[in-house]
Amino acid sequence: MVLLTLILELLIIALVNSNYTGYKVYKVVPDTFEQLKAIDRFHYQPHFDFWQDGTTVGQTNNIMVAPKDQSDFEADLLKNKLNFEISVDDVESFLNQEKQERLMTRTFLSLGQVTFQSYMFYSEHMAYLRRLANDYPQIVTLDKIGESYEGRDLLLIHISSGPSDISKPVIFIDAGIHCREWISPPVALYIIQQLVENPENSYLYQNVDWYILPSLNPDGYEYTQTHNRLWRKNRRLTAGAECYGTDLNRNFDYMWMFDGASQDSCTEIYAGPEAFSEPETQALRNWFLNNTELNIKLYLTFHSYGEMMLYPWGYARVLPENFEELHRVGELAANAIGQATRINSNYLVNSSAILLYPAAGGSDDWVKAIAGVDLAYCVELPDGDAPFFFMLPARQILPVVQETFEGVKAFHSYIEETYWNENL
Ligand SMILES: *[C@@H]1O[C@H](CO)[C@@H](O)[C@H](O)[C@H]1NC(C)=O
Ligand SMILES: *[C@@H]1O[C@H](CO)[C@@H](O)[C@H](O)[C@H]1NC(C)=O
Ligand SMILES: *[C@@H]1O[C@H](CO)[C@@H](O)[C@H](O)[C@H]1NC(C)=O
Ligand SMILES: [Zn+2]
Repeated sequence: MVLLTLILELLIIALVNSNYTGYKVYKVVPDTFEQLKAIDRFHYQPHFDFWQDGTTVGQTNNIMVAPKDQSDFEADLLKNKLNFEISVDDVESFLNQEKQERLMTRTFLSLGQVTFQSYMFYSEHMAYLRRLANDYPQIVTLDKIGESYEGRDLLLIHISSGPSDISKPVIFIDAGIHCREWISPPVALYIIQQLVENPENSYLYQNVDWYILPSLNPDGYEYTQTHNRLWRKNRRLTAGAECYGTDLNRNFDYMWMFDGASQDSCTEIYAGPEAFSEPETQALRNWFLNNTELNIKLYLTFHSYGEMMLYPWGYARVLPENFEELHRVGELAANAIGQATRINSNYLVNSSAILLYPAAGGSDDWVKAIAGVDLAYCVELPDGDAPFFFMLPARQILPVVQETFEGVKAFHSYIEETYWNENL
């Protein structure tokens, strides 16, 4: 049976329709604002894929460029006096290497088990949540908040010690919105596992309720497993569009399309035909709007990579009113991770638009501005002890999820101290 599954898996992986032969990843570091702007323009060109967004002057960009565009691209860099290095000489061989390692380390799970030794399938994520709901009915409830375009369940797990006289503060976490950022769902699953299955951590859900959605873009995630490891968007083809998929993290309706997003479906930052055009973002929106009675105090959305704790606003280089608190609390979490890290993670804390390019339509901006959650963060997880980009090797899942959990615990203490005692 195991052998058969392995053979099937190999067959599926052999049927890939992506071919990145000759694609290169360029590492470019701007020294001036003009150079920064020159690089930024490529965000809006189809088939240029930023693996890493360097933001301000002095920061690194990694940009994947197709063979046919490489000479023009290099000429453009030269014209702007931008030096470059090649980070990945042939993306296809880079991905093949990863694929082989993935097959070697693949763990076969019995139904409802979880692992942090290899990357799981979406169906395994969901089976794990269902088993927890079954095994721990006193503290776990599952809520299907919607379906992806291809009909996969969007499952939200609620972890709670039960109702209380006063409204408990709530922490909401999602992961996997950019499906190629594979380390993101395991981070969410590890938090779930530690809360539910490690009795030492039961104090974490006594006075604070948790809602966690580990896989927000399951169609895209399946597609990264079977067809194209570098897929980022969802899998719906907008009517009349040339290319598949909307960048779900440009599709939320707060300052939609203001900056850092595109109406060209072939770019990686396509914002969709209109705000909330996609079933996945609609599901999240509906859940927040249907649960306004909850006392949601913290929102975390996990991405990779970059080791950054980013707070709103993302749409422009302006800061929200409570930026001092956002910054201070972000640093608490970043420091907790820094102390626990075994892979030298070193997080920067700042607003998304200041640290990254402006990008409107992100989930964190919407959750803060419209859903009214004061503290919202986009967490860019590490890419490991070498530049693995989105392809963090399976052997580094465990150190990343463990150190990130320390950061989440720091967030939790702040929320509990600030909003639970306040109630008493
Ligand atoms: C990918 O494309 C290259 C050249 O563009 C070709 O030589 C190679 O055979 C292709 N690989 C696959 C698996 O189709
Ligand atoms: C949630 O809200 C949406 C629109 O606001 C509505 O269509 C949907 O039926 C609601 N779902 C539930 C479960 O209340
Ligand atoms: C955020 O980043 C900018 C640009 O690097 C820097 O000038 C600023 O001091 C940072 N803000 C904080 C609060 O550290
Ligand atoms: Zn992302």
